[in-house]
Amino acid sequence: MSNNEKATITFSDGTPSIELPVLKGAVGPDVIDIRKLYGTTGKFTYDPGFLSTASCNSSITYIDGDKGELLYRGYPIEQLATNCDFLEVCHLILYGELPNPAQKTDFVNRVMQHTMVNEQMQFFMRGFRRDAHPMAVMTGLVGGLSAFYPDSMNLHDARQRDISAIRLIAKMPTLVAMAYKYSVGQPYMYPRNKLSVVNDVLVRALDRIFILHADHEQNASTSTVRLCASSGTNPFAAIAAGVACLWGPAHGGANEACLNMLGEIQQMGGVEKIGEFITKVKDKNSTVRLMGFGHRVYKNYDPRAKLMRETCHEVLTELGLGDDPLFKLAMALEKIALEDDYFVSRKLYPNVDFYSGIVQKAIGIPVPLFTAIFALARTVGWIAQLNEMIADPEYKIARPRQLFVGATQRNVVPIAKRG
Ligand SMILES: CC(C)(COP(=O)(O)OP(=O)(O)OC[C@H]1O[C@@H](n2cnc3c(N)ncnc32)[C@H](O)[C@@H]1OP(=O)(O)O)[C@@H](O)C(=O)NCCC(=O)NCCS
Repeated sequence: MSNNEKATITFSDGTPSIELPVLKGAVGPDVIDIRKLYGTTGKFTYDPGFLSTASCNSSITYIDGDKGELLYRGYPIEQLATNCDFLEVCHLILYGELPNPAQKTDFVNRVMQHTMVNEQMQFFMRGFRRDAHPMAVMTGLVGGLSAFYPDSMNLHDARQRDISAIRLIAKMPTLVAMAYKYSVGQPYMYPRNKLSVVNDVLVRALDRIFILHADHEQNASTSTVRLCASSGTNPFAAIAAGVACLWGPAHGGANEACLNMLGEIQQMGGVEKIGEFITKVKDKNSTVRLMGFGHRVYKNYDPRAKLMRETCHEVLTELGLGDDPLFKLAMALEKIALEDDYFVSRKLYPNVDFYSGIVQKAIGIPVPLFTAIFALARTVGWIAQLNEMIADPEYKIARPRQLFVGATQRNVVPIAKRG
């Protein structure tokens, strides 16, 4: 990490210049360590949206956005997606190594033992309107888990954190299924841990969706989990914060937004109307974006999108949906956008959510449930990042500063005298 290189900041206002250490990671851009900047100069740095700021050190996931490379604990996502199943990847992300056969059996057993949720959860569920969005329900249910497991709430106890991790990974699929069953007015089904596989292609597709969404370094929801947990709150509350952040259409909500966008173009008239829609997207005065395109980090093809695209074609062929108008529309939109100079010059490529939405829709997962599926897959990444933060000797409560631009001190005028 440490390195003899230094960065010097000079000021034009008479403040003495300062030399700052430059830290090197295992790979990727160096970082300038500005921790002493305020104490020495009385100045902060300004970086809304974290365009140039590393908020922590991490050894979980590495992304090279220019190359389109994604590694979990050093392993390329392409190798993990083709050689491992989701629970092996969970073990890798959580504990740092892929499991051997005995470790895998033990891990799978531990997860399977915890898939059931407390019976009381269904009464909690009844408080929601039937038409509540599944992510509204999930935000409540995940936060609500903290009311059920007081024995694994201490964030500073490694064993309790591990129990919470297994509970969360195991119970998220059950909660997502309950949210769905509730929305359609059907009875809940208790988790059955030994179901026979109905269709290999569809099972592989779902597993791939889970693997590709398992972690993605310091994205908005992961940073939210870290920030929330930095106060010392319990793991369930911190993961609920992650679920809430993921919901937004610029993040995990993009898969649902993408399908809704395809539905709108379909209603406008389908493939013939793509040009008209793209014109709206390019119009600086409109707020319309091409959902499922663009990424803060990837300025090349999202490697997850490449894998999901492959799965997408496999699933559409398996289900005989190659001629389905919605899927034809998606493929036509992809082709046009990939050739259009607006997208090419801004390096806007389809991201994983463009294809994962199409795959989920083809499998028959209801559109409003897409982001909840993403949340259940990302849970392992959130927990691993939270664990890493708490175990880091440099860990501190996260407390950004600000550039204040409001009114400076003034006196209160009695109400009768206010104009
Ligand atoms: C993901 C996203 C939020 C990243 O945003 P960002 O890094 O802040 O990028 P910016 O908003 O600065 O975009 C850079 C330029 O590309 C344009 N752009 C980015 N994504 C776009 C999209 N999906 N459709 C149309 N234009 C887009 C911006 O308007 C901007 O153009 P300008 O330079 O002419 O002003 C953004 O690409 C987006 O909203 N994508 C759609 C939602 C989505 O699919 N999210 C899932 C991410 S996995």
